[in-house]
Amino acid sequence: MSLSTAPPTKNEWHHPPAEFDFRSDTFTSPTPAMLAALPNVSLGDDVYGESTTSNALAARLAEMFNKPAALFVLSGTMGNQLCVRSLLEQPPYSVLCDSRCHIYLDEAGGASVLSQATLTPAIPSNGLYLTLEDIKKNVILSEDIHFAPTRLITLENTINGVIHPLSEIRRICAFARGHGIKVHLDGARLWNACSVPGAPTLAEYAAEVDSLSVCISKSLGAPVGSYILGTKDMIAKANHFKKMLGGGIRQAGILTAMADIAVTDVFLKGRLAEANAYAKEVEKAWKRCGGKTTLPVDTNAVWVDLEARGIPEDLWSQVGTEMGVTLGGNRIMLHYQNSPESIKRLEEVMIEVCHRVDSAGKAASGKSVGRKAYLRGQL
Ligand SMILES: Cc1ncc(COP(=O)(O)O)c(C=O)c1O
Repeated sequence: MSLSTAPPTKNEWHHPPAEFDFRSDTFTSPTPAMLAALPNVSLGDDVYGESTTSNALAARLAEMFNKPAALFVLSGTMGNQLCVRSLLEQPPYSVLCDSRCHIYLDEAGGASVLSQATLTPAIPSNGLYLTLEDIKKNVILSEDIHFAPTRLITLENTINGVIHPLSEIRRICAFARGHGIKVHLDGARLWNACSVPGAPTLAEYAAEVDSLSVCISKSLGAPVGSYILGTKDMIAKANHFKKMLGGGIRQAGILTAMADIAVTDVFLKGRLAEANAYAKEVEKAWKRCGGKTTLPVDTNAVWVDLEARGIPEDLWSQVGTEMGVTLGGNRIMLHYQNSPESIKRLEEVMIEVCHRVDSAGKAASGKSVGRKAYLRGQL
């Protein structure tokens, strides 16, 4: 049967496929409310600036972040690359960034190809986020012709789920401004950083940087895309590059209407706090199994030290699959489409894996391990 003639049934729209998926918050999927919005969207051509639905959300986000302009782009990667390209002018130059950041590790070398930039990856000395001292150690201020001077610093927040404190971002940005260096913030998960109690607002973070990108397809559950924000000129330039890269979208309203609902129903209704709370529960469950984490659980990521607990990664994923839970290595990502039931199941997976590795270890040494000890949280 073709999709066009399939009868409406209770399907994935009603049962989020990501409920038992802990690999990434990118697995969150659109909701029935997003689907229901479609009959009312503008079908205007966004390349011609005629998508009133898209224009309305761009204006709304610009206001929310208190930036002059916003632009819908196809992905977080595209957003970061357009910002890097638009903030830089004439090589030779370099971009100073965290050695673990997405722009450096996970964007297929795009900054070198699209912006002809050398990247300077800096290791955060506190193991969590870059400080001004790390920046000063790695920045290239010299105009000596041997070097590619730093013209841009990119920050990421959250980075590996850890919040880059606004106070530290302020120090870095003040230094950058003092040296004519631009700053871009990869805020793919800035929403999550702003969803902890007492957090700064989106606009407070945005005020510090020249440009930022925020994803709507991870954690918020929209099907596609990111927004970038900056000055009117910078965003106009980014739009030009976006078109050059084939990123012009005709009936973009179909996507941006869903993005609009994601922002309203998920971020503004506080649903990301649920993901952060799930992460705390998962951390506790893991510790009850005798596990350690390798990074603080500030938001929705829990980094479990499988190696220290003697768990091979393939066994971890295998037991998850046997019990109906999808795991992706030592990072557990929580999102609002998980549920109390899926968190409970995840704990059962942890208990089972730990039981198996400990039983194997004890069998080798002639002792036995009771499964009940795990259930009582005694190990
Ligand atoms: C911090 C960060 N920035 C950017 C991206 C890129 O987003 P996309 O997959 O939409 O290109 C990701 C993707 O996971 C990310 O984690």
